[in-house]
Amino acid sequence: MAKTKTAFVCNDCGADYSKWQGQCSACHAWNTLTEVRIAGTSSAASPKSRGGFAGTTAVVQKLADIDLIDLPRFSSGFAELDRVLGGGFVPGSAILIGGHPGAGKSTLLLQTLCKLAAQAPALYVTGEESPQQIAMRAKRLGLATDALQLMAETDVNEILAAAQKHKPKVLVVDSIQVIHSDALTSAPGSVAQVRDCAALLTRYAKQTGTVLILVGHVTKDGSLAGPKVLEHMIDCSVLLEGEQDSRYRTLRGQKNRFGAVNELGVFAMTDVGLKEVLNPSAIFLERAETPAPGTVVVVVWEGTRPLLVEIQALVDASNLGNPRRVAVGFEQNRLAMLLAVLHRHVGLHVGDQDVFANVVGGVRIAETSGDLSLLLAVVSSLRNKVLPKDLVVFGEVGLTGEIRPVASGQERIAEAAKHGFKRAIVPKGNAPRTDIPGIKIQPVSRLDEAIALFD
Ligand code: TYD
Ligand code: MG
Repeated sequence: MAKTKTAFVCNDCGADYSKWQGQCSACHAWNTLTEVRIAGTSSAASPKSRGGFAGTTAVVQKLADIDLIDLPRFSSGFAELDRVLGGGFVPGSAILIGGHPGAGKSTLLLQTLCKLAAQAPALYVTGEESPQQIAMRAKRLGLATDALQLMAETDVNEILAAAQKHKPKVLVVDSIQVIHSDALTSAPGSVAQVRDCAALLTRYAKQTGTVLILVGHVTKDGSLAGPKVLEHMIDCSVLLEGEQDSRYRTLRGQKNRFGAVNELGVFAMTDVGLKEVLNPSAIFLERAETPAPGTVVVVVWEGTRPLLVEIQALVDASNLGNPRRVAVGFEQNRLAMLLAVLHRHVGLHVGDQDVFANVVGGVRIAETSGDLSLLLAVVSSLRNKVLPKDLVVFGEVGLTGEIRPVASGQERIAEAAKHGFKRAIVPKGNAPRTDIPGIKIQPVSRLDEAIALFD
């Protein structure tokens, strides 16, 4: 009998070793190495399994000679999903959709595939739910079910055989964590299984031009469960997020080989499935009836479009020797830095005050355009003076107290005007040369100038 080769693979990071050891030298986790068989006939690691899919033979060609015309993107039927993907599905690409249980991954993909199946063959492989459960959901959501092909299977070779037979244009595997290959001894969901099954599926996708969508689970801290290696294999990784008690779900690109990352798509979970939210600013802008001190609206840039969100600050006398600086949706160090600028260049002292800052709606501001709005909210709370309700503010604050321009100023102002804002405080460098109807622009070049507008 031939001797089977084995390797020891870390369940956390996927590093492999020829001998067992107590601690993984790559990620320093203890007791995470499991033994896997690597000389199986259909393992992805085995060179014997190469080319089982009657695909292309390897050729070397010039970059310029590669035909681009046979890679037209096609729409998923959801404009929000298309945008996050960079303009629709690219044939032959592998996409990973991550998210917490109950985020709506299965719902989103079922809705997408039912729409797509009307035009092109589509196959939905479910490893978690029974076909009856899927059928019941499709019926309840009122989806067109006659064209979509469904398969309940967890063996990767069966899935590949079915895919070769039915030649779908889009193949969904829900979820990669339950798929296994007989060639490996480890349990489904382990690093070795996830890695090998994903490798086989992506290779099939590349060779046949099929769009492969893998559903992936997310660990408690929000990263994708399973190996990092999965992220290297796939072309796009998107995360569907949302609080259990909130209707809204955001779809965010994390990696994209075919488009911009950091695009945001917004959906609402309704009783008839996920619906696109075409005007997300409106939901993040639901504000209190009576205006209160310490809040102002900022226009941030998310991917390729502007988004209006509200920034709130609370400044309160502190009992602590070391007053608190708490920022939610904002970088903590940036808050401390901005407060120092406020003290040094405007003379407003908050050293004996606790300062809390929050971005409403769970949005995270990753760019610097929120600086000026945050400081105006802080000053408004400190002085207990309400800022006008129809005011938007954006701009970066530098360490010398100057207000620096940010990218896409015109578009930000136009978006604010579209939502009925009447006044905008913007960096001088972003002031438009011609008037924008309906909105009064107040360009500022220094922080004290901006704050003096409300003295
Ligand atoms: P699901 O797509 O099963 O989530 P995932 O595959 O990411 O685990 O979504 C399940 C949740 O969505 C569930 O908590 C109920 C909710 N939901 C609705 O509110 N309305 C609906 O029409 C559907 C299908 C689900
Ligand atoms: Mg699911």
